[in-house]
Amino acid sequence: MTSVLYPDLPENGLIVLIGASGAGKSTLARTWPASQVLSLDGLRGVVSDDPGRQDATADAADVLKLILERRMARKLNTVIDATNVEQSVRVELVMAAKRHGMPTVAVVVATPLPVCLERQGPRPDNRRVPEDVVRSQHQAMVHSHQRLAAEGFNTIVFADALYRLEPFLKRLSQVREAELGRDGSDGLGDLLLVRRFFGSEILPLWRWRPGSDLVTGRDRVAEIRLGQQYLTLAFRDDVDGEGDFGFDVLLPCPFDAECAGQAWAPVYSVTDLYKALTGAMDSDPDIVCSVHGVDDQDDDPEGRADLEAQYADAVA
Ligand SMILES: Nc1ncnc2c1ncn2[C@@H]1O[C@H](COP(=O)(O)OP(=O)(O)OP(=O)(O)O)[C@@H](O)[C@H]1O
Ligand SMILES: [Mg+2]
Ligand SMILES: [Zn+2]
Repeated sequence: MTSVLYPDLPENGLIVLIGASGAGKSTLARTWPASQVLSLDGLRGVVSDDPGRQDATADAADVLKLILERRMARKLNTVIDATNVEQSVRVELVMAAKRHGMPTVAVVVATPLPVCLERQGPRPDNRRVPEDVVRSQHQAMVHSHQRLAAEGFNTIVFADALYRLEPFLKRLSQVREAELGRDGSDGLGDLLLVRRFFGSEILPLWRWRPGSDLVTGRDRVAEIRLGQQYLTLAFRDDVDGEGDFGFDVLLPCPFDAECAGQAWAPVYSVTDLYKALTGAMDSDPDIVCSVHGVDDQDDDPEGRADLEAQYADAVA
C-alpha cells in the first residue's frame, strides 16, 4: 500500500532520506536516536578517519549495508542518512527491508538548490561538495520522486510534511530531566557544574576527594585521573564573596620550588586543564600560594564575576 504525503511513520521501519548535499538530511536525522541513524558520512569517518574522504565511500557503503541487514533482522527502526539520489542505491536498501518484512519510507528532502549551494559555503574543505555535484544531486532528487512508488516504498513523504520537532524535543527533555534527577534517579548533581566548565567527556574521570586536607571550609577537592596522569582541583563556592563558584587547579609553587604550601590557579575550561597538565600554567599570574600568597595585587582574577550566573545556568 502506497500513500503519498502522509506524515504518519511506522513505529519501526526503514526510513530513507533523499536529498542533495546541504538539503538538511543530517539535521533531520538527528531528531531520531543516534543508534537508529546510519550515516554514510559517519561511516566514511569510521573506516577512514575522514568523513569527507570520497575514496572511502565504497567501504562505508559496505559497512552500512551490513549494519542495515542486522538491524532489519531485529526489526529495528533505521534511518539512512545519505543522499540516496541514485535508484540503484535505494533499490538495495528497499530490498534489505523487504527481506525482513519491514515497511519502507522515502523522505524526500526537497530543499531548493540555491539553499543547498549556499549551505556549502561555511563548511570545512573536506565536507564541501562542489557546485556541479550538488546541482546534479538536486536534479536526481527531483527525478527520483515519481519513481519511488515503483521502487517499492510503502510511504513517500516530503520532509516538510513531517512532525519531527516534537519527538526531538521529547527525547532531549527526557535526557535533561534525567540529568537533573527529576526522573527519580540521582541525576548528575554536582557534575552539572563540572560539565558546564569542562565538558561531558571529563565526567567519567572526575572524582571528588572528600576529607582532603588541601582545602578548608566548604571547598572541595576533586581529581581528574587517567593512569599515571592526574590533576588536582578545588571547587570554591566563595571565590569573590559567598555564592561565587569556581575551580582552581593545583600547580607547583612558582615562588619557591621547595615550598610546602599549595599553589592554586583558576581554571575555566578544558583548555586550562590541558595547560595545567603540560606546565603551560606554571607561571600563571593568577597563581595563589598558601604560603607565598599572590605575585601581584590582583587577587580578583578576571572572569569570576559571572560564575554565579554560569552556575545558575548549569543547574537550571
Ligand atoms: N530545517 C532547517 N532549517 C534551517 N537550517 C537547516 C535546516 N536543515 C538543515 N539546516 C542547515 O543546513 C546545513 C546543512 O544541513 P545538513 O548537514 O543536515 O545537510 P545534509 O543534507 O546532511 O548534507 P550532506 O549530504 O552534505 O551531508 C546545516 O548547517 C544546517 O544547520
Ligand atoms: Mg549530512
Ligand atoms: Zn609557595
